[in-house]
Amino acid sequence: MPRIFSGIQPSGELHIGNWLGAVRNWVNLQYDFESFYSIVDLHAVTTGATDPGHLAQQTMDMAIGLLSAGIDPEKATLFVQSHVPAHSELMWLLNAVTPVGDLERMTQYKDKSRGLKSIPAGLLNYPILQAADILLYRADTVPVGEDQFQHLELAREIARRWNQRFGGGEAFFPEPVARKTEAVRVMGLDGKGKMSKSQGNTVGLLDSPDDIWHKLRPAMTDPARKTRKDPGDPDVCNIFALHGHFSSADTCGMVAEQCRTAGWGCLDCKRVLADNISERFAPMREQAQELKADPQRVTDLLARGAEHAAAIANETLDGVQACMGLLPPLVVSSTA
Ligand code: TRP
Repeated sequence: MPRIFSGIQPSGELHIGNWLGAVRNWVNLQYDFESFYSIVDLHAVTTGATDPGHLAQQTMDMAIGLLSAGIDPEKATLFVQSHVPAHSELMWLLNAVTPVGDLERMTQYKDKSRGLKSIPAGLLNYPILQAADILLYRADTVPVGEDQFQHLELAREIARRWNQRFGGGEAFFPEPVARKTEAVRVMGLDGKGKMSKSQGNTVGLLDSPDDIWHKLRPAMTDPARKTRKDPGDPDVCNIFALHGHFSSADTCGMVAEQCRTAGWGCLDCKRVLADNISERFAPMREQAQELKADPQRVTDLLARGAEHAAAIANETLDGVQACMGLLPPLVVSSTA
């Protein structure tokens, strides 16, 4: 079975943007691939801005979110990145074959470092850790959104350079290929950019029906609809775009018609969307309640995931260290 690896940052809440853009896909892929899914807490600390008081809880919440969304620990290996130290260790070794110039060219690095007085090295080295994540499992396929393509291209480049320099002519690391997640880029409720926890413009997968409604109510719609009587254009409305993901074709047709003719106000349209979102995630909310009531079960699952991941990761790391000529770890002999 081909192997996939993907990672998600422990932002705490799993929101409908993550779900439509990535996690829904992860759930489907786990049946056809040997799948490794990691909550990448080491990536989360790269900027130094993550609140140490919340990170552990956010990691647990993300695990609960992923499990509730249908990641099946019997099928996929779900684990916390920092629980498998080989990720950091391989990253260090890959530093040796990664040109700083390549890192500085990364769009995400340029965006995130712009305007900072002091740029943490972690921000620059972030893609090396990502390459280590993937290469440790010698994954051939990486399901990611378009914003990660450049990092994937670099991971391939790193694999190629390492193979050339240290692989003895063999493809020790396969070059991982991005598997494009179906093109869904979900706009935030403020209509200003990608849906993202840090922008506070999300709807959480596990939000209660009331919370969903309170978040949707003030959400941005077609700005041309200043009053209830102004007709709107569903094609420029983010709420209508969300209907496309959560409402039936019939409902979407009806909503579009009501918008164009100003038959409905935006609140009517949002009410229907809120109900459909609540309904879609009802089973996941229920599952999350069960998991929250039994944190031991979650930690056991994560511990087992890390154990399985580490077995594979350590084998790769051993191979890398040997190829790079490091003295193998020594053990104190019983006669010493
Ligand atoms: N950088 C990715 C993101 O922000 C998360 C990630 C970390 C990842 N390691 C990975 C994704 C390895 C794919 C493969 O979305």
